[in-house]
Amino acid sequence: MTAVGIDAIEIRTGKLRLDLPNTFAPVKGEAPGKYEKGIGIEYSSLPDVYEDIVTMGANAAKQLIDRKGLTPEDIGRIDVATESAFDNSKPVSTYIAGCLEQVYDGNFHHANKGERKFACLAGTQSIDDAYNWIRAGRNRGRAALVVATDMALYERGDPGEATQGAGAVAMLIDEDPDIVSLSTEQGYGSADETDFLKPNQQFPSVDGKRSIQVYLARMREALEDYESATGDTHPDDFVYFPFHTPYPGMVRKAALLGYRHITRGTEIEDALADDIGMQPRENGYADREAYEEAIRAYMDELKETRRYQEWYERAIDPTVDISGQVGNWYTGSVHVARLSALRAAIENDVDLAGERLLVGSYGSGAQAEIHSETVQSGWREAVEAVDVTPQLDARYDLDYDEYELIHDVHNHEKEADVEEFTPPEDEFVFTGWGRMNERRYDYIE
Ligand code: HMG
Repeated sequence: MTAVGIDAIEIRTGKLRLDLPNTFAPVKGEAPGKYEKGIGIEYSSLPDVYEDIVTMGANAAKQLIDRKGLTPEDIGRIDVATESAFDNSKPVSTYIAGCLEQVYDGNFHHANKGERKFACLAGTQSIDDAYNWIRAGRNRGRAALVVATDMALYERGDPGEATQGAGAVAMLIDEDPDIVSLSTEQGYGSADETDFLKPNQQFPSVDGKRSIQVYLARMREALEDYESATGDTHPDDFVYFPFHTPYPGMVRKAALLGYRHITRGTEIEDALADDIGMQPRENGYADREAYEEAIRAYMDELKETRRYQEWYERAIDPTVDISGQVGNWYTGSVHVARLSALRAAIENDVDLAGERLLVGSYGSGAQAEIHSETVQSGWREAVEAVDVTPQLDARYDLDYDEYELIHDVHNHEKEADVEEFTPPEDEFVFTGWGRMNERRYDYIE
């Protein structure tokens, strides 16, 4: 069976950044340690006044199309995943295609376009749709463009303000991909939850602490469902485990739970038993409460073991590097985690061809999905080409007053006339509203 998967990736960050430990925390009366150690985000990426989900998505897509030397004819499908859409009818993919048509010969009239919504999970679901379209043989040799683009902004004063971010990830899904192929097997954990939602409102209603528990519960279900299709998972089966990363501290919690699950009944559990005992089994306890208490105590010890810490440093830590520099990109976050890990392998001169990743995506509301990916022989060249560090380094540093202004600019309820912080150059920009209240865009050389 021909491999289908991710052939190319590009990211586009919002061009501004807010230093959380040094600019945000002092005004909030918080210790920098909350961001440096607890949350794990150093900078939130934020959009300049002329940026939004369309410009970030179109700019990422243009970078990808230019680098791969594609024409509109090569792309048969454009799917946008977002939870920051501003139109209940016209999909963001039409706006992005309209932008791209301003700069390329030809058009995307032949391309099937859509918009996927399931909170942060939708980026992965759009990849699924592209995979299925190609596998069904409906693509006529064409590739699919998937763009995950979001502005993860919270109401001022909401605890979620500590995890904001804005950016887009563009991915080309194709046969014989250069970066990773996708497994047919998937696992799901899905339930009707109200931990994080935006019922016809721009900023989310969030029950932050409960959202953490819902994330963990759905991920556990998805892992069990995945294992029911593939057999048990072992830590050595996968080189990296990229998870949805609302902030690196969340991934620390998920990783510990995951490690306990995948080491249960293995030689690793036996080897650790001398130091921390065997994992508690429910049938050894009088009630659920006593069992859960014993699990918590076991995990507290597990996270201090050298074996766990070495696994975490090898398999998890490399996945959260970019997230710590940009914050939550919602639909793009798990795709940034994969990219982060692949970049770390290049830095450490690790050859990944043939190695596998276990990818855990999640969206509030709530659903988790787990599948595996196999790294392809062209991965190194394809990942080296992605423009990450120069973009992140070029961001404008906001002071707190400027942060308040830019938050107002992007708040749909406010009118704020604010000068741009960075000059636009070789990029799509938002220029205002048209006759039908549509958003309008130009390409600035
Ligand atoms: P909070 O009340 O601002 O922070 O809420 P906190 O007091 O819980 O502190 C955060 C961590 O920093 C804690 O670590 C503290 O101990 C630690 P933990 O105990 O959790 O391991 N800390 C410190 N560490 C060292 N030195 C210090 C220090 N001070 C504190 N001095 C919360 C945090 C995440 C709840 C909040 O930011 C929030 O509501 N965020 C939005 C919701 C969210 O991101 N949930 C994550 C799971 S749901 C999800 O991922 C889906 C999502 O992406 C949306 C979608 O799918 O569309 C959000």
